[in-house]
Amino acid sequence: MSENPQTADGTPTDGTTTDGTTTDGTSAAAEAVVEVEAPPEEVTAELAEDMHIATGTREPILVSSGVTMQFGGLRALSDVNLSLHEGEIIGLIGPNGAGKTTFFNCLTGLYTPTSGQVTLRGRAMPQDPARVTEAGVARTFQNIRLFPSMTATENVLVGRHVRMKQGPISSLLHGPRFRRSEAEAAERAEKLLAFVGLTRFSDELARNLPYGDQRRLEIARALATDPSVLLLDEPTAGMNAQETEATRQLIFAIRDLGVSVVVIEHDTKFIFTLCDRVLVLVQGELLVEGSPDEVRGDPRVVEAYLGAPPEEVSAQLQTGGAADGAGTAEGKSE
Ligand SMILES: Nc1ncnc2c1ncn2[C@@H]1O[C@H](COP(=O)(O)OP(=O)(O)O)[C@@H](O)[C@H]1O
Ligand SMILES: [Mg+2]
Repeated sequence: MSENPQTADGTPTDGTTTDGTTTDGTSAAAEAVVEVEAPPEEVTAELAEDMHIATGTREPILVSSGVTMQFGGLRALSDVNLSLHEGEIIGLIGPNGAGKTTFFNCLTGLYTPTSGQVTLRGRAMPQDPARVTEAGVARTFQNIRLFPSMTATENVLVGRHVRMKQGPISSLLHGPRFRRSEAEAAERAEKLLAFVGLTRFSDELARNLPYGDQRRLEIARALATDPSVLLLDEPTAGMNAQETEATRQLIFAIRDLGVSVVVIEHDTKFIFTLCDRVLVLVQGELLVEGSPDEVRGDPRVVEAYLGAPPEEVSAQLQTGGAADGAGTAEGKSE
């Protein structure tokens, strides 16, 4: 998957992707034996107050209408519609190459759709990732993008800088306004690290964190921009069952902050037990949209998405197993 390198919204380019491996190429996750827990309720409550994101609107926040993306002769997305409401968690599933990441890229200004529109609270989405972040849409990447040689706290502060408002004179002179704003940013970073369960790693370099913790750090950095919408591209890829469950709890807590979430994932059990609504994308087209129960029971999903004998897959979906083993479903990384 080739996404345009960019740093404007506080994410490093592909060149600095940490990708879950330490400098010597071994996965740090292999050695990690850590209890991961859901965010403490008092931290969630405090953060919700700091961020005050929810507005109580019943209008959809993020809308894509007829989004189509053509790469030369390849139509990666055809006429994709999505309406995300406040407080909603939407799941996006589909086989490898279905266009899921491309859709996120269209939603966040990395790609300009060939046709169709994306609006945020009724206004056209800016065609510039930095301005998209400012407008309140944050994301994480399928291939983790952190600054590997910066500490966990510093990575979160990079996200926080989008919201820091001190003027050039004040920051030049390190005046009181600058110092107050720096202190607030540090305090917020600390809360966000507690929220994602990484307090113990605050001074650790990002590249030394176990793989699953790097994914959570990326979420903390995204949350530091005070988003009203968070897009998560395969947040549990490479995680064990316990980390996956902790991530599910984390996403519920993110929703409790007032953030609306769209999440791409392969693990159907994860998606069906997390999301209010699930969209199935196949070859760039929305095949089915509905509640987890509706999607789980839809024969088109069983056939087109999973590509295995229907009885077999159907049984797997009913028991909530991961779809990865079946037919056309993909591996965990690009
Ligand atoms: N920048 C690009 N240029 C050309 N083709 C692309 C580009 N980005 C994605 N694609 C193609 O679009 C299709 C969908 O890819 P992707 O969105 O990564 O799928 P998914 O995330 O569902 O696995 C693939 O065939 C992929 O090769
Ligand atoms: Mg993808």
